[in-house]
Order: sequence, then structure tokens, then C-alpha cells
Amino acid sequence: MKKYNLPFVFGFLFLCIQCQSKKNHTQESKTEVITRVFEVAEDQFSYLISKIDTISPLLQPRSLNKDGSYRMAYKQDWTSGFFPGSLWFLFEYTQNEKWKTYANRYTMALDSAQFVKWNHDVGFMIQNSFGQGYRLTGNKTYKKAVVDAANSLSTRYRPVAKIIQSWDTDAPWIQGKDLDMPVIIDNMMNLNLLYQATKHSSDTTFANIATSHAGTTIKNQYRSDFSCYHIVDYDHITGLVRKKVNFQGYADESSWARGQAWSLYGYTEVYRETKNVLFLEQAKKIAQFIMQHPKIPNDHIPFWDYDAESTEEIPRDASAAAIVASALLELQEFDPGNKSKYLSYTETILRTLASDIYFAKKGDNGGFLLKHSVGNFHENNENDAPLNYADYYFLEALLRWKNSN
Ligand code: GLY
Repeated sequence: MKKYNLPFVFGFLFLCIQCQSKKNHTQESKTEVITRVFEVAEDQFSYLISKIDTISPLLQPRSLNKDGSYRMAYKQDWTSGFFPGSLWFLFEYTQNEKWKTYANRYTMALDSAQFVKWNHDVGFMIQNSFGQGYRLTGNKTYKKAVVDAANSLSTRYRPVAKIIQSWDTDAPWIQGKDLDMPVIIDNMMNLNLLYQATKHSSDTTFANIATSHAGTTIKNQYRSDFSCYHIVDYDHITGLVRKKVNFQGYADESSWARGQAWSLYGYTEVYRETKNVLFLEQAKKIAQFIMQHPKIPNDHIPFWDYDAESTEEIPRDASAAAIVASALLELQEFDPGNKSKYLSYTETILRTLASDIYFAKKGDNGGFLLKHSVGNFHENNENDAPLNYADYYFLEALLRWKNSN
């Protein structure tokens, strides 16, 4: 009978087991990363829903407070559409009816948000919830909500300056700040709703407003290096620029990371919808600014502001990274000359976000997916916290990555 060298066999088996268990995420294939994240996301969101169900079926999970309790979004909060949107992405990936049912439930909880007229965020709220639902199901109720929301947003268009006004001047957070007709860069994210509403209704007014806003923003919101200001304030009588400031960033002349991400994502979408090369060039220049910035760390997760200085460690913002990844995965389709650069940059972001540093373990992080985002640094509000929009753009980016080659 053949004799086996038992110590050698056991040693070999032990090493194999060690290797397998130590197989770290950097060795995973793209498909393995995506599969793992969506598997964990199913567990996390099941857990999250079981927790928030006891709070209120009308509120959306937004973040975690420092004490671990949930920070919930009421339906007029700018973040209210992201959780329903993430549930739509889970349905899209798994095709499991369970997620469609939950996505519908949290989407419908937003109902009257489509009629919000006192700020521009209706685009975020409705396109990411009802809009995603319509894309995946063709449900006419969702389509109507998108058109109703576009009507609401259009009431904020100011022809004198050719912009959509972001906030009313009596909004509580700008009291005493000397703003007359403010536009924030985030407003670029609301334009997709208008383009989709034109397709749903054949009313070109919506798309024309969006394109007009995007054109004015190019002229007034950017510096020569294609970084952007957070806020441009216009005079409501003359339409002229009054001032350019940065409430959410480190300083007026600094580059707030999420603002740069919104700007890249917004112009990529406007190019998709208009095919006007002016907007493609803008998106390419913004991408260049972000990707070549000397202060972007090697893992490509930016500090909350590219120019932030501190005596303590400066927090990173996972939400900005997720938005950039998703935007670049769309931009690579329109800019074949830079496709491989965009894909490689994105892959670094997504692998980093899917690593143990950023991606929560099952049952941790209150059921949210990503850790380490920055909501509003100056207000010490959601600093180094999970955020529902970080999760939304992370899942969207992974779906786009899955379909890219
Ligand atoms: N729209 C607000 C933000 O990005 O924080």
C-alpha cells in the first residue's frame, strides 16, 4: 500500500485553508467584488428595514447619529429619495420581487414630495426614487410623479439669470448670510429629472430649462482650473452675479469634494441628454481636475475638501468617491480616448470602498453599507458617518461597472 507522508499532507491542507481564509479582497475578480457587495447589501438592508419599521414607515433612513440611533429623513429632506433608489438597485441586481415590494413601499412613502416648490431638491428626491422605479417597471404612477416634480422644479427657473434658484431666501439655513438668488453646484443633479420629464410628457420646456441652467452654470460657477464654487449668488432684479462662496467647503476658494463630484456627474448627464459637446468638454475637464489633483490619495477616496488643512487627521468622504466612480463609469462611454484611465481610476475607488476599511460587515453600521462619509463638516453634522447617498451611488457605480468592459 502506498505510504503518504502524513505531516506533509496535513501541512499542505493547513496552508490551503489559511490561503483561502486569508484571500483578501484585492485578489477578488470584478465579478466577485460585485457579488459580495450585493450579497452583503441584501443582508444589511433587510436588517435596516427591520430596525426602521419600528420608527415610522413614512420616514427614510439617512444616517446614524453618534450614539448609534438612526437619523431619519422626512419626505421633504433632500436625501429622502436615496434609500428607495438603493432598494431599486437591489431589485435590479437580484430580480427578487421582495426588493421590488420594498422599493415600491419606500418610494410611495414620498408621495407628496413631488409638489415641493420651495427648493430645488425635488430632482434628487423624485428622480432617484420614482424615476428609478419607472425605469425598471414602467409603472405609470411613477412616471406621473416625475412629470409633476418637473413642473414643481420649473417654478424655480429665473429667466433674468437663466438659472434655477436652489433655495428660497427664507430657508432657515441661509438666514443672515446675505444671499439673494442662490444657486448651488448640487443643482446640476436635479437636471436629469427635467430631461426625463420631457421624454415622458413631450413638453420640451423642462429640457430647455435644464440646458439653460447648465449653460449659465458653466459661465459662472467655475474657476479656470475647472474646480467649482459651492454657491453662486445672483441678483434677482438684474440677474448679475453678486458673489461666489463656499458654505459647505473649507473656504470660499477651496474645492469641496462632494461639490466637485456633483459637478462631474451633472455635466456627464447633461451631455448624455443633449449631445452638446460643450457639456462633454466640461465633464472631461472636471474629471481631469479631480483625477490629477495632487491631494487625491492613492486609494482615490478624497478628503472632504481638497484644500482642507487641519492639525488633526482630515476626514475622507466616501460619498464623494462613490459619486465620482458612478459618474466616470458613464463618462467613459462618451470619451473613448480616456476610457481606460476612467475605468482604472474607478476600479481603485470601488475596490477601496468594498474593502473592510469602508464597507460595513454584516450587522454593523446600522445596516448602511459604507462608513466614513462627511455630511456637513462645519456643522459637525454627519462627520465620519454612513450616508444613504454614499450607498446609493456606490450601488449604482457597481451596476455600471458590471455592465462596462
Ligand atoms: N446637497 C447637499 C450636499 O451635498 O451635502
